[in-house]
Amino acid sequence: VTRILGVLNFKGGTGKTTTVVNLADGLARAGRRVLMIDLDAQGNLATYLSVPYRYTITNLMLGQVGIEPCIVNARPRLDLIASDHSLLEAEGQLWRMDDYQAARQSVSEKLGNLVGYDYIVVDYSPSVSLLSESGLIYTGELIVPVATDHLAVVGFRHVSKTLREIGRIPEHGVRLRAIVPTFYDGRLRKDRSILKTLQRYFPDQIGAPVRRNVKLAEAPAKNKTIFEYAPRSHGAEDYQKLVDQILSSEYPPPH
Ligand SMILES: Nc1ncnc2c1ncn2[C@@H]1O[C@H](COP(=O)(O)OP(=O)(O)OP(=O)(O)O)[C@@H](O)[C@H]1O
Ligand SMILES: [Mg+2]
Repeated sequence: VTRILGVLNFKGGTGKTTTVVNLADGLARAGRRVLMIDLDAQGNLATYLSVPYRYTITNLMLGQVGIEPCIVNARPRLDLIASDHSLLEAEGQLWRMDDYQAARQSVSEKLGNLVGYDYIVVDYSPSVSLLSESGLIYTGELIVPVATDHLAVVGFRHVSKTLREIGRIPEHGVRLRAIVPTFYDGRLRKDRSILKTLQRYFPDQIGAPVRRNVKLAEAPAKNKTIFEYAPRSHGAEDYQKLVDQILSSEYPPPH
């Protein structure tokens, strides 16, 4: 059974793309077959990992090609369906569909029959769109990176808003799998207290925080995952904990 993980927060810059790349690479390094899907016109997972591609998810959504030519290999056991600014055309097409239900099913319909992967990891844009809504219906388990530095300013509003947005999709059984505190600085009382509060609200979902780490910020410019760029860094250590958290909820359990 393929687990479909969506990395989502309707707030920008919380570490979604960083989480997608490093979680996916970490799972692939653990021997799983993984596909990343870029659902963010600005996200550019392919550029992040310096993977050449010919077709994007837009071509798939517009029915110009089948799924096979859209899949490119990025690393051992790690594949990718790229996206770029043309994704807005796919969004436009969804809006032009008369049938709202059908529009929301389109991502599932186009991607539905993918076989051969243990994990599919979806990167979302921070904006609420018909495309992300459709992606959410495709997603089985949600991973929500929450920046502990931003929370101090905006409180819990964006987390609870995210959960409300998802709760509004009635027929959809997405499960909140993990909340990942990001940009964490344990020296700051504010970050420690936010982490405590998150742990109180989401005791079953909170994992180890991902510390603010310069190597994580540098890796994309080198087109590398953190495990390639700085395997001994705090960033690699923290993302490995997330990988282990996800692996530990595999069914049947890993041995
Ligand atoms: N733990 C961290 N420590 C330091 N820098 C980080 C960390 N996590 C992410 N970054 C950097 O912060 C920036 C934002 O991260 P990222 O792009 O992953 O966020 P995002 O949620 O995908 O943003 P968007 O909403 O725009 O898609 C990037 O430059 C990234 O390299
Ligand atoms: Mg992103």
